[in-house]
Amino acid sequence: MKIIAVANQKGGVGKTTTSMNLSTCIAELGKKVLLVDLDPQANATSGLGIEPVENVSAYGPMLGEANLADMILPTTRENLFIIPANLDLAGVEVELIRLGDHLTRLRKAFEPLRAEAAFDYIFLDCPPSLGVLMTNALSAADEVLVPLQCEYYSMEGLAKIIGICEQLRDAGANPDLQLCGIVMTMYLRTNHANQVIAEIQKHYGEVIFKSVIPRTIRLAEAPSHGQPIIAYESSGLGAAAYRALAKEFLTRETPVAV
Ligand SMILES: Nc1ncnc2c1ncn2[C@@H]1O[C@H](COP(=O)(O)OP(=O)(O)OP(=O)(O)O)[C@@H](O)[C@H]1O
Ligand SMILES: [Mg+2]
Repeated sequence: MKIIAVANQKGGVGKTTTSMNLSTCIAELGKKVLLVDLDPQANATSGLGIEPVENVSAYGPMLGEANLADMILPTTRENLFIIPANLDLAGVEVELIRLGDHLTRLRKAFEPLRAEAAFDYIFLDCPPSLGVLMTNALSAADEVLVPLQCEYYSMEGLAKIIGICEQLRDAGANPDLQLCGIVMTMYLRTNHANQVIAEIQKHYGEVIFKSVIPRTIRLAEAPSHGQPIIAYESSGLGAAAYRALAKEFLTRETPVAV
């Protein structure tokens, strides 16, 4: 069982779109997948057609008041399960700081699921801030997957998130954290986008997934219909890109240390 945090402190770079669609495509390939929505905005939850439910989120388990396993809901997709988000998560910042070991609360909450290897893959959709939810996700994860928009300023953000991972490793919160890969999102065929990809490849080489996600209107529309792209437009460019990413993800060699 592998836990992957989909993280980037920058907002609107495709974290949720990638978490939802990569999870769905890996489930389609027959793996048992859990998607955990850690963003109080609950975009991944509603994007899969699920209404936020009172008292059903990672909030209670992080506070030590409930079991994570009891928060798991089925989705309309075979092999795909979700722990939805709700607004309670917005309070976790304040609540956890009051408690001890607030960086590793989620890691602890995952221990029973790890012990029984309940899923093949667990994806954590992180919110766009450097707060307690994101650091808990990075502490709980085996690997971090970073979606990056194909634009120049993305590179600064990348250096920053890699720095945060190093800090967490050095602080002992997650000594084994590794970089699963970088997914380039919202790609438009322009010189600028190609230059950015080439530049990142120069610095990070193999870490970039070869499957680049194009910018398509369908990918932006699908969540408002509560559907992943392979249900909303199964034969389109977006579906093909996320299916290719899922295959590449599953055949990847071992990840690199961050
Ligand atoms: N490949 C794409 N093509 C077109 N639109 C996209 C694509 N990927 C994401 N979007 C749209 O861009 C917006 C931001 O994407 P998304 O919500 O996945 O980013 P995020 O990193 O999760 O954002 P946040 O930081 O707010 O959580 C959304 O409206 C989404 O529908
Ligand atoms: Mg998001």
